[in-house]
Amino acid sequence: VNPEVLPLLSHRADLGPNPNGTANRLNGADRAAHDWYRFVLAFPPQLVRQYLKRFQVVTGQTVLDPFCGTGTTLVECKKLGISSIGVEWNPMAHFASRVKTAWDVDGDAFRSNALEISRAASKAFKRVGLSDAVCADNQLAGRAEFRALTADAAKVVLRDSISPIPLHKVLTLLSSIDSVGNFRFAQHFRLAVANEAVHSYSNLRFGPEIGLGPRRDDAAVIATWLNRIRRMAEDIQALRPRAGVRSHVLRSDSRDMPEQIQDESIDAVITSPPYPNEKDYTRTTRLESVLLGFLSRREDLKELKQSLIRSNTRNVYTGDDDETWAQRFPAVQEVAAHIERRRLELGKTSGFERLYARVTRNYFGGMVRHLEQLRRVLRRGARLAYVVGDQASYFRVMIRTGSILAEIAETLGYEVEGIDLFRTRLATATREQLREEVVCLRWP
Ligand SMILES: C[S@@+](CC[C@H](N)C(=O)[O-])C[C@H]1O[C@@H](n2cnc3c(N)ncnc32)[C@H](O)[C@@H]1O
Repeated sequence: VNPEVLPLLSHRADLGPNPNGTANRLNGADRAAHDWYRFVLAFPPQLVRQYLKRFQVVTGQTVLDPFCGTGTTLVECKKLGISSIGVEWNPMAHFASRVKTAWDVDGDAFRSNALEISRAASKAFKRVGLSDAVCADNQLAGRAEFRALTADAAKVVLRDSISPIPLHKVLTLLSSIDSVGNFRFAQHFRLAVANEAVHSYSNLRFGPEIGLGPRRDDAAVIATWLNRIRRMAEDIQALRPRAGVRSHVLRSDSRDMPEQIQDESIDAVITSPPYPNEKDYTRTTRLESVLLGFLSRREDLKELKQSLIRSNTRNVYTGDDDETWAQRFPAVQEVAAHIERRRLELGKTSGFERLYARVTRNYFGGMVRHLEQLRRVLRRGARLAYVVGDQASYFRVMIRTGSILAEIAETLGYEVEGIDLFRTRLATATREQLREEVVCLRWP
């Protein structure tokens, strides 16, 4: 085992089943780079460390996260000196993963360029009668001159996601980054805007579902952004010794393993794919995706959803045929048939309810496709950890996601080493404990 990796691993607390849902939290000691931008339900860095240790991953080997989201696996590997590859289709998450693993930045130049940008933005605020500080005078500013989203873009974000003054300020800050920002730092600056837009400028709240919270009519956009930039600069300084560790993030669909990943090149997989849980993951990233220009029309959203694993009825489309991949798996057919029987018993007839059985088959079909394609890139003896959760979102029919995926993997030639309990969650509807598990596989 890489001697450099072990000391880093050994002082950390191991992960155990955690019934109260705190297992996803980011520890203060782990904050660097991970908190530059993060999904609320991203898995925690200590989980990645635990499986790197268990799988005895060493420097010179390569770890893959085929559903890398905001890059927890990649950041953690890089901190430990291990090469990694991430695959992600959501452009916002892909962007975040790329920036979070880019540490070859000169901290002083980074800070001074950020100050230049803040001065330019501040001047632009004054031109329309605004100050960065939250103050009553801002409410009297010349709103006709405010920057706003295009009508098409406004249809993509949740209504009232952000109030007019913070929106004007954030669009002005982004435009100052475009005009004064050094190209070597601009992506980091933009990611900081994305993070602050959600957490400090918007009216959005996560609980963990996204929704509207108390309205923020104004926000000190530049000041909060600069604070974030200062913290990023400190992180960069601390992480720079590891800047050369390879980390590659591909924007691709993991149901068709991207060609850029070479045959038999992957030593370990640590990942958390979507679950069939009726959650539209794209909802949580809409505001920042629009602000940063990744989505500007509803059609973009459709195109995004079509390349994601089907995990909710909002991303099922007429031509979907992932379910054909699941045809030979009785466990998938049984659970889907159970859902459909329950629907008929309950007399439920809405368009979405009619899709519950289908989305379940399409979900597992997509995962079959992924696990089949993945085999090409795995080295012999590769070890895999898939973090997945049980679900009961469809008429309370229990979907044992981990067990079904383990069965599928076994049929496809993987060895199932075991299913670990990561944590349990109480399902509000059924009062049943839902297991979140880590399916451990080995490619023989
Ligand atoms: C549960 S999240 C992963 C969170 C991640 N572990 C983190 O730390 O942020 C699942 C991710 O899979 C992505 N995804 C879903 N279907 C995909 C596909 N077909 N190809 C690539 N990524 C996909 C989603 O966009 C989402 O970011």
